[in-house]
Amino acid sequence: MKVLITGAAGFIGSHLTELLVKEGYDVKAFVRYNSKNSWGWLESSLVKNDVEIISGDIRDFDSVSNALKDCKAVFHLAALIGIPYSYVSPKAYIETNITGTYNVLQASKDFELEQVLITSTSETYGSAQYVPIDENHPMVGQSPYSATKIAADHLSISFYRSFNLPVKIVRPFNTYGPRQSARAIIPTIISQIFSGKDSLSIGNLTPTRDLTFVKDTCNGFLEIFKSEKLFGEITNIGMGQEISINDLVTKILKLTESKKSIETDNNRIRPDNSEVERLMCNNSKLIDSTSWKPAYDLDKGLIETIDWLKQNMNNYKPDIYNV
Ligand SMILES: NC(=O)c1ccc[n+]([C@@H]2O[C@H](COP(=O)([O-])OP(=O)(O)OC[C@H]3O[C@@H](n4cnc5c(N)ncnc54)[C@H](O)[C@@H]3O)[C@@H](O)[C@H]2O)c1
Repeated sequence: MKVLITGAAGFIGSHLTELLVKEGYDVKAFVRYNSKNSWGWLESSLVKNDVEIISGDIRDFDSVSNALKDCKAVFHLAALIGIPYSYVSPKAYIETNITGTYNVLQASKDFELEQVLITSTSETYGSAQYVPIDENHPMVGQSPYSATKIAADHLSISFYRSFNLPVKIVRPFNTYGPRQSARAIIPTIISQIFSGKDSLSIGNLTPTRDLTFVKDTCNGFLEIFKSEKLFGEITNIGMGQEISINDLVTKILKLTESKKSIETDNNRIRPDNSEVERLMCNNSKLIDSTSWKPAYDLDKGLIETIDWLKQNMNNYKPDIYNV
């Protein structure tokens, strides 16, 4: 079956591309057009020669429609994802995350795709009003990023309700692993440790997150895709465990056998009302409706991530904080 993956050159998208190729799918990878013709993380992937790469821009209907025309399904992951940058450039998030999703939905409707997987995020819940967070938890947009993902989710469900488009919403909680942007907390901590600095610059230490290793997240996408149910619905992917950022830093220092002090960097702190204090996933729906079973606990996933980062520090700039 031919499937399109948008955001295929990114962190989760590149791992998902590798998984779907391994599973025997005919994968077309939609990567953002750029002058270097760079395929992002797919450049160094072992499956680079087994996928059809198509360059385009998710904000441009023509390029999305052209990419989708011979596909049976789409995994839509392309997005702007950084929360701090969404404070600086909210309109870019509206265009990429909302209009981009519209383009995927409309083109999928035109070509009568068999399945449309839309990638949401646990940020759509805002700070937990109860834990663990199930799919019925209210959505609260605490950042422009989150608000645009909420809008994209609602638009997607509306295409299911209005046009019977076979949409499924995949809602991952925080994901980590090799190739993640240094803007995310785990690569931030690890890359600063390996940079040889005496102290680590970190933002708010009290929030908690539910962390899933990227290969388990990708298996979640595949399981949701294979399910004969879950159309027109949201399905969480997460571990059902929470850890505070402070405990996470301590754990990574221990795993890397490092001793560093922790400094709070005010530039990395979100405005009070925007900070999502607590996220912990209720994954019962995923477990009950599919065969998903995570293969990585936090220690195992962190060790694999630390080992990878040690070999790939040339991709990171730990001394520079850039939203
Ligand atoms: N990483 C996480 O913890 C996490 C958690 C929940 C949900 N998500 C969602 O998963 C998806 C993938 O996120 P990721 O962590 O891999 O981030 P990422 O930034 O590595 O991947 C996003 C990809 O989208 C592409 N993209 C951005 N703008 C584009 C445009 N205009 N045209 C074409 N492509 C464009 C980027 O080039 C990149 O390859 C996103 O939808 C994100 O919201 C991520």
